[in-house]
Amino acid sequence: MVNEIALEGARNRYREGKPVRVLFVCLGNICRSPAAEGVMRALVEERGDAALWEIDSAGTGNYHIGDLPDKRMRIHARRRGYELTHRCRQVCECDFDDFDLIVGMDAMNLRNLHAIAPTPEAGGKIVGMGEFFDIATRYDHVPDPYYEGAEGFELVLDLLQSGCGRLYEEVAG
Ligand code: 4NP
Repeated sequence: MVNEIALEGARNRYREGKPVRVLFVCLGNICRSPAAEGVMRALVEERGDAALWEIDSAGTGNYHIGDLPDKRMRIHARRRGYELTHRCRQVCECDFDDFDLIVGMDAMNLRNLHAIAPTPEAGGKIVGMGEFFDIATRYDHVPDPYYEGAEGFELVLDLLQSGCGRLYEEVAG
């Protein structure tokens, strides 16, 4: 079930020819959310639609500020054609002014984002990546791969490719 209220603002901007601003958020901003950013950037470029999207990522934690994505995440992403060059930053209150959709990867990210949201209206911009999965999966979120092996990183990319595809269709389709 997709949060239609959050999507409506994004759809309106797209229809008006204004860039849709999407911020992907996880805990560390070195695995899942920079990968989501890379997948979404590639997707909008492939569709010739990059001018209508502004895409960024951030973490709720502050452990890795300034770092490139985790080397394992970069290697797995590169195998699928995504170069991840984001530098880690922490999510801030001002992100709720600067973005139309704020996409959390798991339940903890969503809880933390709601705690940071300055107003209920701002909190209405928060959606879960799992709302957009359109593949058969037992997951309703993107699980943290940090303490997992290679399969964890591949799973993240599978889920993100599905979720970003559907997110694009929900806004621009
Ligand atoms: P991410 O993964 O939230 O997908 O970037 C993590 C990366 C680092 C840590 C936790 C999760 N950490 O605790 O350092």
